Amino acid sequence: MLGASTMDSQSLDPSLKLLLDALERTPDNAPLRVHVADMLAKAGQHAQAIRHYRQAVSDASVSSEARLGLARCALAMGDAEGSIEACDALLKEVPDFARGLIARAKARHSRGQHREGLADYERATSLDSTLHEPSLRDALIRDTSDPRAKFRVVSGGDSAPSGAAANVPDTSVPDRVTFADVGGLDEVKEKIRMRIVYPFANPELFKAYGKKVGGGVLFYGPPGCGKTFMAKATAGECRANFINVGLHEVLDMWIGNSEKQLHQLFEDARRRAPSVLFFDEVDALGMQRAKLHSGSMRGVITQFLAELDGFASRNERVLVIGATNTPWDLDPAFRRPGRFDQVLFVPPPDRSAREQILSLKAHAKPTESLDFGAIAQQTEGWSGADLEHLLDSAAELALAQSIARGSLEPITMTHVDKARAKIRPTTREWFSTARNYAQYANEAGQYDDIADYIRQHNY
Ligand SMILES: Nc1ncnc2c1ncn2[C@@H]1O[C@H](COP(=O)(O)OP(=O)(O)OP(=O)(O)O)[C@@H](O)[C@H]1O
Ligand SMILES: [Mg+2]
Repeated sequence: MLGASTMDSQSLDPSLKLLLDALERTPDNAPLRVHVADMLAKAGQHAQAIRHYRQAVSDASVSSEARLGLARCALAMGDAEGSIEACDALLKEVPDFARGLIARAKARHSRGQHREGLADYERATSLDSTLHEPSLRDALIRDTSDPRAKFRVVSGGDSAPSGAAANVPDTSVPDRVTFADVGGLDEVKEKIRMRIVYPFANPELFKAYGKKVGGGVLFYGPPGCGKTFMAKATAGECRANFINVGLHEVLDMWIGNSEKQLHQLFEDARRRAPSVLFFDEVDALGMQRAKLHSGSMRGVITQFLAELDGFASRNERVLVIGATNTPWDLDPAFRRPGRFDQVLFVPPPDRSAREQILSLKAHAKPTESLDFGAIAQQTEGWSGADLEHLLDSAAELALAQSIARGSLEPITMTHVDKARAKIRPTTREWFSTARNYAQYANEAGQYDDIADYIRQHNY
């Protein structure tokens, strides 16, 4: 077991020493291990940090953070190749991990893969605008050898240079995430079972009733309420190949190439059927079109619609899931029959769902007599992501206390209450925009679910 004795303990700061002792007493405490590794890395003890990260990687609750730590340490030690590898593994598990994308951007920059690094950087900052690092971006742009990279998309008409195969989508079957990991959303789960899971398991039965297996489902709703998570769980449930497409990546390509990329993605999905092709933030298509004022985006949308239509039912056993939190930005043509013909509202979790989410997320953390029912009661309007944030903040408080006291303090209601006072739930803001659409732009009844929700919850 790793412990203070294996370290050059003279040079360690005192709180780190305490934590190392605590870790020796509770070696299975993976979050603590990652925290210790982070501190070691910060202190420049990269080799030691790496050993702890490696040990933590196998714990699902912290594996992403551990991989991120590995990537950063590898790069700090001059091993860009190893850093990219760690990032690849991380992003395969969690494609939207913005800090992981930044880490890979840096490693790729260091390996001379500037264009790919720039794509990572831009995707990361579009996911999380707080991650902007202008100096990194400038360096990536400066060093990108192909000058067209500076004029991506807007230049139009170009075909991509041969090196542009960097935007290979993440392809994986995330076997760990299933419906059991998703708190609440029982109605949505039931609809998905009928529409996706059963048909994929019994294609002959469904065909006998003249039903097609495959098609398109669109998830929409406020941020952080589980659209992306649900899509992953869906793929996990039906044991289909899950192909996660970062639309931003596809669209960041040179025009002309975007269409080819899209076609390639669908062909790949068809070849590997049964498969689920997941387009997160599918509104990017509509948004981009409005922003660009150019006909070039039309081509991409047309291509996308043609692929959805499947050129005469070639999409058998290929399911397309789209997710968006701005459904009003979507081209209405997407909703036509045979395309995204099933549109599912993913609402904020209700009280019992919040309780479930809290207990799911607290599972791997050291806690003491947390009353999830009481917390759920006090968090009306909070998203799943908000609740996760709440527990993380409470954990930070408990950790700070542990360091101050030199003993391991579990997370208690006091920590949670303190953390809660500092967090603003994020779904209300979405509803204040959504309300306008539900009231004034709901001719076809496409926002009835939102209207119902607002009525029932007095928003
Ligand atoms: N119902 C839920 N059950 C369990 N975890 C949830 C649930 N809803 C959200 N979460 C947690 O919150 C995180 C964020 O959720 P997710 O990324 O799926 O939200 P989203 O609806 O796709 O948001 P956005 O619109 O911002 O993309 C997930 O990684 C998950 O851990
Ligand atoms: Mg999402």
